[in-house]
Amino acid sequence: MDIFHIEGPVRLSGSITVNGSKNASLPIMAATILASGKSILSAVPHLSDISVCSQLLGELGCKVSRNNNGDLCIDSTVIDNPVGDYEIVRRMRASICILGPLLARCGRAEVSMPGGCTIGYRPIDIHIRGLRELGAKIHIENGYIVAEAKNGLTGKDVFMGGPFGSTVLGTANVLMAATLAKGKTIIESAACEPEISDLANCLNKMGAKITGIGSPRLVIEGVKQLYPVEYEVIPDRVEAGTFMVAAAITAGQLQLNNCRLEDMMAVVDKLRSIGVTVEPADDGCIVARNGPLKPADITTQPYPGFPTDLQAQFMALLSLTEGNSIIIEKIFPDRFMHVAELNRMAANLRKEGPTVIVAGVKKLIAAPVMASDLRASAALVLAGLAAEGTTTVNRVYHIDRGYERIEERLNPVGAKITRESM
Ligand code: EPZ
Repeated sequence: MDIFHIEGPVRLSGSITVNGSKNASLPIMAATILASGKSILSAVPHLSDISVCSQLLGELGCKVSRNNNGDLCIDSTVIDNPVGDYEIVRRMRASICILGPLLARCGRAEVSMPGGCTIGYRPIDIHIRGLRELGAKIHIENGYIVAEAKNGLTGKDVFMGGPFGSTVLGTANVLMAATLAKGKTIIESAACEPEISDLANCLNKMGAKITGIGSPRLVIEGVKQLYPVEYEVIPDRVEAGTFMVAAAITAGQLQLNNCRLEDMMAVVDKLRSIGVTVEPADDGCIVARNGPLKPADITTQPYPGFPTDLQAQFMALLSLTEGNSIIIEKIFPDRFMHVAELNRMAANLRKEGPTVIVAGVKKLIAAPVMASDLRASAALVLAGLAAEGTTTVNRVYHIDRGYERIEERLNPVGAKITRESM
């Protein structure tokens, strides 16, 4: 239960290297289940969610370790316990993405049904529907999803659309399962997020036959076997976006290395309309703000639209514009735990259903605030950089799930964040 003390306001200046993507790493770690042998994944960040996923794979029978370079080595030669235990799944919902690969490899899987979540209702009905289409028999028993495919899975046309668009981890589950199914699978309305493309590229390197990568129509020709892989995951676009907002909210300038602007066009476009310059540089970009911030309207959408994972951080930024902004959350309509906390820092936010009206204020004022989920907590850190006084952020473990020692990344470029270990 660490606490951050953040002294503000500061102006950030310097360069930061963006880490590998958490949300690409997690399904790719699950994909190693599909091939017997030792896979080596590089650029996997040191985050608590990655440790939880390593523990989960360990419970299945895999041997997971880091080598001297920091690469993650997963030896999946033995998988003798295809069970995703409640005690692990309740700590990390993304554990659900072992369901598809376990089913394909072992013909059976039991994974605890994920429970409630601070960012709102998060069903997994489309995951289950998709795997049933491939021939799996699935029922819920004692809080577990029990899935069976004794004679293997069979390729089929599967529609993965839902009330809020496509599903990222649902697509990952069905995609991984389909690689070893008999015959051809077409996933219609597949998620197009770069993390899904990264997973598909990794699977192809393992011997899968996937085409249509990056499009909403993935075509998978099932193969008999996949092989262990050496693979480097893509940079984290959400971490990059968070650092971009850090430069903008502090009227600073940051060079971000290892940042793929092509994955972030909606974010870059929004920053530019707010009055922030984003220029491509060698291996990333330079983000700077010299003048006042302009208001903006943001609607979160599936990729390539504006990502829900940056909604909270942009709310902190828009709090300091001259004028009114509107933020509409179309992926997780209740993902607004940060609203009340930002208002404690003198922001002027009014929530109306899945919409927040942001009336710009001249300054934010430090306060003790509570981190609630990963991205909401990042928004509080960003607000703390710009606020007058010392902001105290409680429950920092939420931030540690998705940002590797964020204070050690931001302090060298001008932040004043101290971590108090409780
Ligand atoms: C992934 O979650 C990410 N997690 C989330 O990142 C991200 O916010 C989300 O995608 C949306 O981009 C990982 O990659 C580990 P979804 P996921 O299934 O796959 C509805 C972060 O901060 N839906 O794409 O679980 C769902 O309720 C996190 O790093 C169904 O209706 O999200 C939501 O409205 C948090 N039925 C929408 O689809 C289903 O079966 C999109 O959810 C599945 C989803």
